[in-house]
Amino acid sequence: MDVSEALARRRMTRSFSAQPIDGELLVRLARDALRSPTAGNARGIELLVLSGPDEVAQYFATTTDVAWRQRSARFAGLARASGVIVVLADPHTYVERYGAEDKAASGLGEDLSAWPVPYWIGDAGAATMSLLLSAESLGLGCCFLGAFRGTEDLVARFDIPDRFVVYGAILIGHPDGRDHRSASLDRAGPSRANRVHRGRFGSAGQA
Ligand SMILES: Cc1cc2nc3c(=O)[nH]c(=O)nc-3n(C[C@H](O)[C@H](O)[C@H](O)COP(=O)(O)O)c2cc1C
Repeated sequence: MDVSEALARRRMTRSFSAQPIDGELLVRLARDALRSPTAGNARGIELLVLSGPDEVAQYFATTTDVAWRQRSARFAGLARASGVIVVLADPHTYVERYGAEDKAASGLGEDLSAWPVPYWIGDAGAATMSLLLSAESLGLGCCFLGAFRGTEDLVARFDIPDRFVVYGAILIGHPDGRDHRSASLDRAGPSRANRVHRGRFGSAGQA
């Protein structure tokens, strides 16, 4: 499968089968995902690979509560994921890198507040997308979940150093084909064509 096909085929999977994925394969996918670029080659993105039912259950135990698990129609399908890859970004590594001699003129080595764009967040997204595409090319499914709840518990449970921002987590597994379409996909919104501008902003949608 080439990259454009993987891009076109990829969809978030929210219903996995119980078929396991070898933990070593998850580690290989994670290492490959870190081939994605980082600003100044700062490499402040790290991935925590959780594999197998016990570690996946611990991920959900820390990031969700009983009430949600009981009422969510999606929980059972999500919880059958074979692994979870937690995406971590260390802003301080970026400040340190941009404080080095070859980057000092940027002023970004001063402090986090000097950054008009938090490149560590973009780099976390790039690593995430690399992993989603690699998984797609192997016929595996993924779902990116935001870090909205239970982050403190997650960090404590898995000994994540507090210099990291938890960007989110990628569930990975074999799709069971029983996914129900996300309502988000049916929301009205601008087309891709209307979000590409050529030559000047406002020319979107023109051939
Ligand atoms: C930053 C980010 C956060 C997301 N958070 C969640 C989430 O917490 N739960 C979820 O089910 N999907 C989440 N999604 C998935 C989006 O809903 C999904 O990518 C979008 O609806 C488009 O669908 P597709 O990826 O299947 O094409 C997230 C996606 C991104 C990029």
